[in-house]
Amino acid sequence: MISQDPALSLLRRRVMDVTGIDIGCYKQQQMERRLRALLDRSRVESYYEYAKMIENDPEKARELWDFITINVTEFFRNPDRYRDLQEKILPTLYAGKPLNVWSAGCAHGAEPYSLAIVLHETGAAAHRILATDIDRRVLDRARAGVYEENDLKNVPPERMRYFVKGDNGKYVVADSIKKHVAFTYHDLLSDGYPGDLDMVVCRNVVIYFTEEAKERVFRGFAAALRPGGILFVGETETVFNPRIIGFEPVTPFFYRRVQ
Ligand SMILES: C[S@@+](CC[C@H](N)C(=O)[O-])C[C@H]1O[C@@H](n2cnc3c(N)ncnc32)[C@H](O)[C@@H]1O
Repeated sequence: MISQDPALSLLRRRVMDVTGIDIGCYKQQQMERRLRALLDRSRVESYYEYAKMIENDPEKARELWDFITINVTEFFRNPDRYRDLQEKILPTLYAGKPLNVWSAGCAHGAEPYSLAIVLHETGAAAHRILATDIDRRVLDRARAGVYEENDLKNVPPERMRYFVKGDNGKYVVADSIKKHVAFTYHDLLSDGYPGDLDMVVCRNVVIYFTEEAKERVFRGFAAALRPGGILFVGETETVFNPRIIGFEPVTPFFYRRVQ
């Protein structure tokens, strides 16, 4: 947690004022490394100077924002996990009603659209996917659902039918998939969580958070899920002591909300 160094504390407050993000909830070493690189790039020596700079220069604030929100994503990221989702998890989730899913930290939309495709193929009719992020720019892109060919490199040929190629060579997500996904702004570290969910998908987001913040987020997910609901995390992520916060492991990277 960034707190001891007064210059960093000042910068933390400035970043909070300008971007609404609390960098104190992100891993300190990683954050400081990134901030140092930004300081070098901006040719300023101290956090004080940098705090002043982002206050006065919206471009610098934007640059900082981009550094904090690492938007790397891809369709069907870790295909084996999507296979587990489709074959092992979803069949246990259906209770005859449409599923309510939350893709938290959805970046430019590859994750919620991949989920929508898998749900569609599993025969779920009227499922709803709430897709959220703190980066409004990626949310605009996600809403449009327009992708370059390179963005779709992980989409298997049989799933290319869910994308419509336009005259400009770009691909648009088919309406039959798009209509299930709603995008909105949400900060996992400061906003309230939705409830009565069947599944929360939060992958490659909390890796940047401090242990404290991470636990708070996982507890929030447990409360947001209905009993029996599923939490799906990223390939390098683990919920430590899952039972204490109301989860039981199902298969790697999937946890079930216990009664
Ligand atoms: C590396 S991307 C992961 C995207 C996708 N979940 C995946 O696994 O491919 C991380 C995303 O988390 C978002 N993010 C970072 N901090 C967040 C926060 N406090 N609340 C919500 N989203 C956040 C970033 O803006 C970014 O789009």
